[in-house]
Amino acid sequence: MHLSNEEKAMYDGRDGPAVQKAMDLLVRYGEALGAERLVETRNVCATITSTTPFQRDFALAKGGGMDAVFSEFSLDSQETVEIPKFKVFTSHLQLGFDPGQPERMGVSEEIVQFYHRSERHAAGLGAQIMNTCTPYQVGNIPTRGEHCAWMESSAVVYCNSVLGARTNTEGRESTGAAMLTGRIPYWGYHLDENRRATHVVELDIEVESVQDWGLLGYYIGEHVQERVPVVHSKRGIGRVPNLPRLKHFGAAASSSGGVEMYHIAGVTPEALTLEQALGGKAPLEVLRYGEAERRATYEKINVTGKDAEVQYVMLGCPHYTIEQIWEAAQLIEGRKVHPDCELWIFTPRAIKSLADRNGYTRIIEEAGGILMSDSCSAMSRAVPKGTRTVALDSAKQAHYLPAILGVQAWFGSTAECIDAACTGRWNGGYA
Ligand code: F3S
Repeated sequence: MHLSNEEKAMYDGRDGPAVQKAMDLLVRYGEALGAERLVETRNVCATITSTTPFQRDFALAKGGGMDAVFSEFSLDSQETVEIPKFKVFTSHLQLGFDPGQPERMGVSEEIVQFYHRSERHAAGLGAQIMNTCTPYQVGNIPTRGEHCAWMESSAVVYCNSVLGARTNTEGRESTGAAMLTGRIPYWGYHLDENRRATHVVELDIEVESVQDWGLLGYYIGEHVQERVPVVHSKRGIGRVPNLPRLKHFGAAASSSGGVEMYHIAGVTPEALTLEQALGGKAPLEVLRYGEAERRATYEKINVTGKDAEVQYVMLGCPHYTIEQIWEAAQLIEGRKVHPDCELWIFTPRAIKSLADRNGYTRIIEEAGGILMSDSCSAMSRAVPKGTRTVALDSAKQAHYLPAILGVQAWFGSTAECIDAACTGRWNGGYA
């Protein structure tokens, strides 16, 4: 791999052992990928903190040091090295649980203390403690063409597709190395040729609601897997999808398949036209999405839903926007969550404080629901005790929760989910 003089100096140890190990990791990783060089990045999004008993025990075994945890889990180094301050702007993603709700999430006070300690360590190194899978909602919004090193599939697909910035789906180790060096291998979605659409998805129906966009994303992910789709409609896309719609769409496509980049002709930045998205090449396949495909996708996502009684309603995958919290608050105001059901809504910490100030948290809590941050049920593996059936407005969460926890899942609109929370029953259906 070609290294610049600056990169060679880091590789040779000029900036200390942690940076040297980071460069060594990036060179090995890049060579395995076939990258010819590294690219500079000023924007890293990663899971940095530690929240599990395993990591706590690891820290204790190594004399309690958080540097040991970072060396092992973020630099792939069994030797503990002193971690210097991060070189580039780095955002911490979500992990583990909401430290404000330890009992609900089934964690001990000791683990909460370890969480806070780990968070202080990461903040001390310069990480932005955003604690969300949607960093683009709370201050990390890279510009078009900006090279990034991001983890978290739903954030990666949003970064590439909606913002037009460039990242592959990185891991804890490669991002750990990137935050110390400001470098990441130059391959995959950093390169123009890999960003062009390979599949056309021709819309024969209107796609409008958040649920519609989630269904379309799920359908596309299943059919194109890790390729790059472009959504097109001869009649025009109709109402331009907003942030919640694109957030749900990309998250669904990256769960049922491995989509890391998509285009919507006339909407997303690298697809002013269908031709631009395709880059002058013929598509490998043209898929048609109509009523039959939408219904089949709906039935597939709801395949585990059998029992009408719902014990748990989870909203906020990916983490809710303030607009979605506002909508949920309007839907539940004056109603009560059923005594046999719980309602948990997840959002970034910063948006929760906005919801607190706007009065939405109070409305949700007066109804018997809870607004949480930092995590979600798929990440934390936490659901209310006795949960057998959940209701969700996220195709991504409906894809994962039955597989992770063995529960049944109903997928529908936010209004159907709020109704399920208040009646304890699923009354939704394909409309
Ligand atoms: Fe975020 Fe959890 Fe969904 S991390 S994208 S809310 S699975």
